[in-house]
Amino acid sequence: MLVTSALPYANGPIHLGYVLEAVQTDVWVRFQKLRGHECYYVCADDTHGTPIMLKAQAEGVTPEQLIDLVNVEHQRDLADMLIGFDNFGSTHSAENKAVCERMYLILRDGGHIERRSVRQAYDDDAKMFLPDRYVKGICPVCATADQYGDSCEHCGSTYTPADLKSPISVVSGTPPVWRESEHYFFRLSSFEQSLNKWVKSGAVQAGVARKLEEWFSQGLRDWDISRDSPYFGFEIPDAPGKYFYVWFDAPIGYLGSLTQLCARTNLKFDDFLAADSTAELHHFIGKDILYFHTLFWPAVLQAAGMRRPTAVHAHGFLTINGQKMSKSRGTFITARRYLQSFPPEYLRYYFAAKLGPGIDDLDLNLDEFTTRLNSDIVGKLVNIASRCAGFITKNHAGSMARALPEPALYAEFVTAGKAIAEAYETRDTAGAIRDIMALADRANQYIDLKKPWTLAKQPENAAEVQAICTQGLNLFRVLMIYLQPVLPVMAAKSRHFFREQNWTWTDAAAPLLGTAINPYEPLATRLDAKQVAQLVEPEAPQTAPKAAPVTAPVSHQGGASDAASLAAAAAVEGNMISIDEFLRVDLRVAKILGADLVTGADKLLKLRLDVGELGTREIFAGIRGAYDPAALVGRLIVVVANLEPRKMRFGVSEGMMLAAGPGGKDIFVLSPDSGAAPGMRVK
Ligand code: MSP
Ligand code: ZN
Repeated sequence: MLVTSALPYANGPIHLGYVLEAVQTDVWVRFQKLRGHECYYVCADDTHGTPIMLKAQAEGVTPEQLIDLVNVEHQRDLADMLIGFDNFGSTHSAENKAVCERMYLILRDGGHIERRSVRQAYDDDAKMFLPDRYVKGICPVCATADQYGDSCEHCGSTYTPADLKSPISVVSGTPPVWRESEHYFFRLSSFEQSLNKWVKSGAVQAGVARKLEEWFSQGLRDWDISRDSPYFGFEIPDAPGKYFYVWFDAPIGYLGSLTQLCARTNLKFDDFLAADSTAELHHFIGKDILYFHTLFWPAVLQAAGMRRPTAVHAHGFLTINGQKMSKSRGTFITARRYLQSFPPEYLRYYFAAKLGPGIDDLDLNLDEFTTRLNSDIVGKLVNIASRCAGFITKNHAGSMARALPEPALYAEFVTAGKAIAEAYETRDTAGAIRDIMALADRANQYIDLKKPWTLAKQPENAAEVQAICTQGLNLFRVLMIYLQPVLPVMAAKSRHFFREQNWTWTDAAAPLLGTAINPYEPLATRLDAKQVAQLVEPEAPQTAPKAAPVTAPVSHQGGASDAASLAAAAAVEGNMISIDEFLRVDLRVAKILGADLVTGADKLLKLRLDVGELGTREIFAGIRGAYDPAALVGRLIVVVANLEPRKMRFGVSEGMMLAAGPGGKDIFVLSPDSGAAPGMRVK
């Protein structure tokens, strides 16, 4: 089996959303390996395209330097999350270039490529063609300003950059001109029937199949796989100045990574990819990139004379405390930040316990995370071993009994393995964890009932205590075998405790009897809710740039830039919000209808506001020191209108007032006669 996760873009750090995907894939792969299957897991960085080219430019480095640095960080972060890739490469590799060229030429010679002239926005200042998202302007439908060239965030209309009113290039800020250029199209439309069949073969989840029906009914359009220079990517072999579009060489990056794996081992590329290959090919992806993986990719594989994926497994999106991951809210949590304070297996366990086979979004609720980990891992799982091990080590020289006192209970644990395996197989890890924790409860009940700690007070009970603890430890061992895909390090420590080298799934069937164990070492410690909550608090500013891997100094753009300053730029970037995030803040003019003192809070005023079309609001503002309530009535202020209501000691505050000044008496709101109307948007 060949298994992949989607390739993370090389223009930012690994965040917990990507970790969710990697954990889902990794658990599945480790499960397959534990079951004795020959399974390989490959991935790579997705390094090409305009955003990476421009980011490198902005940082004064070459794209190659940027992606090399990011690659080191990505690999380190994912390794620390215990993601067990068999190969992690880069789409900017010689191997990937070779596979791209080979596949393209087969596509071309098979008549699947067509050339057409395309009119596109061109930035005459930056001397480059502009992707749709690099043109902004006024929505042609609803006239909202500052919308991307492909769709309007306000009214949802989709269009092309040419439809925008007053278009502006995001790169240079100048209005684009329109230029013709020849592009290379992959004839997707001719694969409609065979794709339809492939979808019906069970290659995708039911919910995804319904989405695909929709796309089929709209008709498949041919796919533009080329981009004009300047572009960071691979040049198309027979078309100087034209480059493969990043989404053409990205999925091929799976195969570039496989090529590297084959070069290091005795595996053969064709055994996985030949049209008649009997190996399975599984892609794990997020639901946002379905079109690429369920339409373009299988069609390209087929056109290139290769096999198609056995299955594409999509998952939903991760939210943090119920909110989208966003830098401004502090909910953009990087893998590194998590790892600085917490063990990787805690997050792996939490994700596994919540991941189902569908494409529903999944929330990381930090309180639930703490409770769940403390209750399941510390309270239930580890507790079994820690309560039994000491008696065997101290009173029986580390030797387990020769027979189980309750073989039927052990058999129950073995039998349950069937349903647990089925759940892992179908990516219902939530179901697998539920079953495993139910067994952990059973094991703890058994120990509670037998109370070895009471029995051990009488020396004549020694044999019974040994037998009970042998039973308890063997139940624990079965659970750790079942959990190994999720908790590989705890499983390895448990194996060491049991003095075993390796586990396969079937090792659960036979208990360890009469064998010796090593002294028990604590496997997990409790989480502290306060410390966990800090994950969404602003990070302390970094005082020194973190150590960056050394690359050669860059002589580009004056030569001042090197790896360290790039790292410093990245550190500052952690504090930056994007224009998109800023635009989500709904700033409105509001008129103060009433202002009251708040008993018990001498800095606060309670304000009643008229926010025009948004109605009236009540907010609390700390401006008592600067304004007498009476003087405020009738004044205009600016408020954040889409802030979640917040319950305070004195009532609910439904927004936040903006003002400037150092505080105390010096806090300034809008001038009294600014002439703005309540409800007006502030831009
Ligand atoms: N580079 C492309 C994928 C190319 S695959 C040939 C890409 N990169 S990405 O970095 O934006 O996303 C990588 C994967 O992470 C995607 O499968 C995406 O769905 C997933 N996720 C990104 N943010 C996520 C969440 N918040 N939650 C869950 N998965 C998320 O797309
Ligand atoms: Zn609009």
